[in-house]
Order: sequence, then C-alpha cells, then structure tokens
Amino acid sequence: MFKTRITKMLGIEYPIIQGGMLWLSTAELAAAVSNAGGFGIITALSCGSGEKLRAEMRKCKELTDRPFGVNVSMLPRLAAGDRTAEYFDVIIEEGVAGVETAGRNPEPYLLRLKEAGIKVIHKVPAVRFAQKAENIGVDAVTLVGFECGGLPGMDDVTTFILIQKATGVLSIPVVAGGGICDAKGFMAALALGAEGVLMGTRFMLTHECWMHRRIKERLLQTTELDTMIIARSIQNASRVIKNRIAMQALEMEQRGATLEELRTVISSQMGLKALQEGDPDAGIIACGQVIGLIDDLKSVQEVVQEIVEGAQAIYRRFSAIGMG
Ligand SMILES: Cc1cc2nc3c(=O)[nH]c(=O)nc-3n(C[C@H](O)[C@H](O)[C@H](O)COP(=O)(O)O)c2cc1C
Repeated sequence: MFKTRITKMLGIEYPIIQGGMLWLSTAELAAAVSNAGGFGIITALSCGSGEKLRAEMRKCKELTDRPFGVNVSMLPRLAAGDRTAEYFDVIIEEGVAGVETAGRNPEPYLLRLKEAGIKVIHKVPAVRFAQKAENIGVDAVTLVGFECGGLPGMDDVTTFILIQKATGVLSIPVVAGGGICDAKGFMAALALGAEGVLMGTRFMLTHECWMHRRIKERLLQTTELDTMIIARSIQNASRVIKNRIAMQALEMEQRGATLEELRTVISSQMGLKALQEGDPDAGIIACGQVIGLIDDLKSVQEVVQEIVEGAQAIYRRFSAIGMG
C-alpha cells in the first residue's frame, strides 16, 4: 500500500517525510522516523560544521539501517562563513538516500549528488520555483503552503492550492508540506496529486524530539490562532509561535527596523536557548498552524502508524459508500 514514486525513489515504506527542523532534527528524531517506515531528515545547519554533520550522520546510521536524509538550508544569497559546500562534501562522502534542499538554487551541487546516487528533493513555497527546480534536474519537489511552520515564502498561498497547481504542471513527483499532521491531511494531499507528505510541526510533539518539556507543554496549549508571520519586511517571512519575542520583532518591523536591529531578537541562537531552557518566550520558535490540530504527545512510531491505519480506514469508508 501507498507505493508512490517517492517511496520508490527513497526506498521507504510509507510516503511520509519529516522536514528538516533547525536544532530539532537530530539523528535520534530522523532515525525514529526512518525506523517507523518514513523518511527521517537531519538538519546540517544545526551541526555547525562538516565534521559535526559527519558525526551526526554516523550516529543516525547506528540508530537505523533504513534510508534517511539530510536537510541543507541555504541562505538566499551566499554570505561569508557559509558552509554549504562543506556540508555537501560530507553528505557525498558519507552517502545518504536523499537530501532536502531549501533556500538557494541547488544547481551547483546537483551533478555531484547525482553521481553519488543521492536524490535531491528541493523544497519551495511557490509553483514557479518548483518549475525552475524541475528544469535544473532535481528529482522531486516539496511545496510548502502559507500555513507551514518555518518559511512559507512571500506569496501567502495555501498548501491546498499549491499542490493542485504544481501537480498540474510538473512531471517530477510532488510532496505536500504545510498543515498536515494526520491521516485526513495525508489522504487529502494524495487526493490533490501529491505522492508524499512532509511534516515538521507534528514531529515536534513526539517523545523523540529533544526540546524542553515546557516548550512541548506550551505547544499543546497553542491553537491555530496562536502562530504569526514575522520577518516579512526582510523578505524572509517565517511562521512562528506568537510569543513575547515574536510580537517584539513584529513591532520593530512596523517601526522600520533594519536587519541588524532585527537580528538582536530573531537570532537562531536565542531560539536554541529557548528550546533548551524551556522558556517559550525567550526566542523565536517556528511552528505551523497545524498545531491547532495536535493535542497529544506521542512516539514517532505512533504518529506514523496512526496515519497509515487512519488512511486505510478512510479508504474503507470511501469504498463503503461506493467510491472504490
Ligand atoms: C521548529 C521548526 C524548524 C524548522 N527549521 C527548518 C530548517 O532549518 N530548514 C528547513 O528547510 N525547514 C525548516 N522548517 C520547515 C519544515 O521542514 C517543514 O517544511 C514544515 O514544518 C512543514 O509544515 P508543518 O509545520 O505545517 O508540518 C522548520 C519547521 C519547524 C516547525
């Protein structure tokens, strides 16, 4: 069941991918997702150096013998201190089933990744970027809608629209991201033409995600009305939890703050500290609107199994009313 071009391409059981999440997508989380039959992804940026990424990849290989991937998030423009090339060198040396690229165009690295047999899934928030990615030769694209946690782009188009549009014009497989946490979202995405789903926020609320208990407790109380978009003024719209620091960032943006000024509140290091120390107001925490549908903390295995079993139940229900 659920065999799509994505499951075949990545060698996985179910077309369920865990999106790269800065600081949170560790070897433990990625391995748990892969062991459950999905595709777990480590984030290169959280590692901070090629050698630390190598160690994280090796740890993941010890925790699972199933395929997993690495997320390489690239800043929109190459800046001093950018370690993208170093990360790709390590990924190619160590070998993985696939990479999730995001941000800049992955073209400079594509040939070497292809030669190494590594599949490239480029994540984008707009159909025009997906078409460009197809033209340069990526293997698949993930489209993330306005409701997603992290970076939904600047167009404010929802997943429901993006997936239908994208599958209408692309030949490569499309993965749907943003707003999916359960069997209903999974089946809806497949019905729209996607061949897999990508989830970030749902995997934050699992036992295998290391963040502090108090952040998980805050997330359990968070509804679909409690996320917001910041950093639009610097062309880097981000969906995050509506907390004290996010409200401060928005006020600064409304006053015309510069990137340097904004950096004093939206730094990823402050976000890391919040996750570690358990103060939900101490930094920016990415989170999707789908948090409003999530009201429990469970294991990764339970998340994946409930999607698989729930999808089968929906299919049976459709069949019972004469649809299959
Ligand atoms: C806490 C958090 C951190 C994230 N960090 C990254 C990241 O570093 N790189 C990236 O490409 N996407 C990142 N994302 C986006 C996810 O990979 C994924 O695209 C998104 O969560 C899907 O939408 P959903 O949250 O509605 O499931 C992050 C998302 C969250 C919730």
